[in-house]
Amino acid sequence: MENRGYPAGDAGAAAQERAVQEFYMDQVRGCLTEEIGAPSFFVTTIGCQMNARDSEKLEGMLEHMGFVKAAQEGQADLVLYNTCTVRENANLKVYGRLGVLKKQKERNPRMVIGLCGCMMQEAEEVETLSRKYPFIDLIFGTHNIYKFPQLLFSVLERRRQGGKHRTYIDVWEKPQLIVEDLPVDRKYSFKSGVNIMFGCNNFCSYCIVPYVRGRERSRRPQEILEEIRGLVADGVKEVMLLGQNVNSYGKNLDTPVTFAQLLNQVAQIPGLERIRFMTSHPKDLSDELIAVMGSCPKVCNHLHLPLQSGSSRILKEMNRRYTKEQYLALVEKIRRAVPDISLTTDIIVGFPGETEEDFQETLDVVRRVRYDSAFTFIYSKRTGTPAAAMENQVPEAVVKDRFDRLLEEIQEIARQEAGRLTGTVQQVLVEEENDHEAGLVTGRMTNNMLVHFPGGRELIGQLVSVSLDTCRGFYYMGTIERQEEN
Ligand code: SAH
Ligand code: SF4
Ligand code: F3S
Repeated sequence: MENRGYPAGDAGAAAQERAVQEFYMDQVRGCLTEEIGAPSFFVTTIGCQMNARDSEKLEGMLEHMGFVKAAQEGQADLVLYNTCTVRENANLKVYGRLGVLKKQKERNPRMVIGLCGCMMQEAEEVETLSRKYPFIDLIFGTHNIYKFPQLLFSVLERRRQGGKHRTYIDVWEKPQLIVEDLPVDRKYSFKSGVNIMFGCNNFCSYCIVPYVRGRERSRRPQEILEEIRGLVADGVKEVMLLGQNVNSYGKNLDTPVTFAQLLNQVAQIPGLERIRFMTSHPKDLSDELIAVMGSCPKVCNHLHLPLQSGSSRILKEMNRRYTKEQYLALVEKIRRAVPDISLTTDIIVGFPGETEEDFQETLDVVRRVRYDSAFTFIYSKRTGTPAAAMENQVPEAVVKDRFDRLLEEIQEIARQEAGRLTGTVQQVLVEEENDHEAGLVTGRMTNNMLVHFPGGRELIGQLVSVSLDTCRGFYYMGTIERQEEN
């Protein structure tokens, strides 16, 4: 493990590191053609929006180094998997792909195979991967993503010198720097994720994220605002502020700033139309934030508020630090301030020791809050977390039965709620041409629901007013009213 001892957030060291990586990007560009011909890449992202944003940075760096995006993984000279490890099945996805990658590399021996992201922060996984899948060229973690050009250069340089193949591994236990301003290739021209903080301090007892993403670090407001201004100048209309717990943003900055204050500052950026954020931990959601959500028109009419469980007893075991009653009171307060807000959530079923009574408490919250949608997860044991050591794990068949009942309840409520905007006119940000029906485009409302309506690709990235004619399950069919000035 490497440690140069920079304090996280040290701007001078970060600028120096950026210069180092720019140097390596030039180096890689220089030796590319020689090494792997006309190089193409394919990045596969597993996991949450943080990982999606990291992948945009990796793709940006790759393009800067002279690679071009391949249409399919099978055609690429460089394949990168940005992994997740929040649940076991995320890891299984990676193992499932490695057999295919091995065959691809047999056909194209110059191919570079890299793995990065959260799963690589687990020493046992890295050990297994490098032992059982020796054809992997590069493994790095979440804390040194910015060092990718230098790592790739090391792999290519070793090949150039005819060195024996080995898996180049560089995983840091702890974060060191927040390196700003490296190239980014955005997936969408008109919307973008923006990291406002990294890591998590909450240690929910089931969750691996604090172990693989490190402690909470906030970016400075001026850097966030600068990035968003740049994005807006480049055509972005909507940003999603990203953090594992955005409500504790800014607490550890030299000059502390609250998340609500940051939102207010972001909202003042001219040309920015919409602001979303993800994720809000209920224990830290302040009245100040609720006030901003209620008063600031740019803040979207949607809040993702993970519940995890409706049982106060289980919530305590989960170390969530709120009770069922506090959660419900919070929802009520939010609904009073933002009457038509769309609420979504995450729920885990089958946490160790969960009884039928506990599960009924979860169903009770679902029925009272009436979420517009919810992600439901079967509890997955993560080695190293406190919950993994708990003895009373719930039998699989019981969990499966609860999961099915929960899903049915959630879907029924979401179906009933979905139609409530029928007949109204809503602002829609057009995202893409509809892939099922020619002549239709698909856009997103401020509440995060999708609308399909007749229109052409020239509308992509535009905000338009759309009349919602019919609701079909979880989306609407509409008709365009008029185009906004933008
Ligand atoms: N920081 C976010 C969540 C990040 S992980 C928050 O606190 O809300 C996304 C979701 O994965 C969590 O909300 C939780 O519902 C789920 N999750 C996390 N660890 C899990 C585990 N071990 N088993 C099942 N689901 C899990
Ligand atoms: Fe995991 Fe809890 Fe942190 Fe979310 S807040 S990332 S669930 S530890
Ligand atoms: Fe997965 Fe890492 Fe996100 S574990 S959920 S990709 S922070």
